[in-house]
Amino acid sequence: MSTGEFDGLPGVAVSLLKGGVGKSTIALNIADRLAARGHETVLIDLDKDGHMTTQLGYDDAYDREANLGDALIDGEDPRELLIETEFGVYLLPSSNELENVETRLKDERFADVKLRRNVVEPLIENGYDYVIIDAAGGRGKLSDNALIAVQSVIVPLIPRAGSINGLNKMIGRQISPIRENIGLDILAITPNMIRETMGQRNEHRTLVENLNRKFGSFVPEYARIDSEIFDALDDPGRSVDDIPKPGIRERTAISRAFKQGMPVAAFDEDCDQISKFDHLADLVEDHTHA
Ligand SMILES: Nc1ncnc2c1ncn2[C@@H]1O[C@H](COP(=O)(O)OP(=O)(O)O)[C@@H](O)[C@H]1O
Ligand SMILES: [Mg+2]
Repeated sequence: MSTGEFDGLPGVAVSLLKGGVGKSTIALNIADRLAARGHETVLIDLDKDGHMTTQLGYDDAYDREANLGDALIDGEDPRELLIETEFGVYLLPSSNELENVETRLKDERFADVKLRRNVVEPLIENGYDYVIIDAAGGRGKLSDNALIAVQSVIVPLIPRAGSINGLNKMIGRQISPIRENIGLDILAITPNMIRETMGQRNEHRTLVENLNRKFGSFVPEYARIDSEIFDALDDPGRSVDDIPKPGIRERTAISRAFKQGMPVAAFDEDCDQISKFDHLADLVEDHTHA
């Protein structure tokens, strides 16, 4: 779904209209991987529920008076809002005012480009390398702003009935219109929270299989499968250990790290899923420099 020449800004929005699929987790871990490479990385929590901001321990910031609206609508310097985290990522926190900000946006001219013009562009111009956006769940002005700001998106899906339907809806209602009018690249559609038991015909396997069949070119390398591998998964005599693990797997280290307000690499540097986040960070880097 490439639009040809890249004219977006360096970064990515992690987005899906549904909640609980790992948007915040993935956004946090991609930001962490980029920061670990020495890039000055900003993570914007654009979700009104502020889940990421509070998980990271910044409840005060969520409730403070200064908020994204100051930069987004009133044109103040977005750098004033940044918080430097212990793992080197700069967080632009969510706020209990974001609901109002979204309402105010409706009365603004060029409302859809506010995040790009007033937040992301000034950050990049002032030396930040990448902006990772934890996009608002649900369809709204903020969610459109996220995609338009960086013109690239990573979509996480979890094994749950209706996942592919939700993806199709998002593509039809949001991604395609923005792609056609402004330009937007899908960097990855990634399965997340995949369990070890891929050998049976369960939701985990169905998701990975359907994604490969219908959206193959958007599936990151670590989640690609061919029929040979599925045959191997069906072979009861074969251990799952020697079979590639398609998708970001479900790991307690990932959820525990998030609960304790840190990326998984800071919590358990041996977690075998860190390479998946590194790969997504590669895609963000490659897209910028393509
Ligand atoms: N790969 C994973 N393994 C284990 N837990 C995960 C994984 N991805 C997400 N989670 C957990 O699932 C929950 C929902 O994830 P979250 O990132 O908050 O989703 P969203 O932002 O889409 O609502 C969180 O508790 C998170 O820690
Ligand atoms: Mg979230």
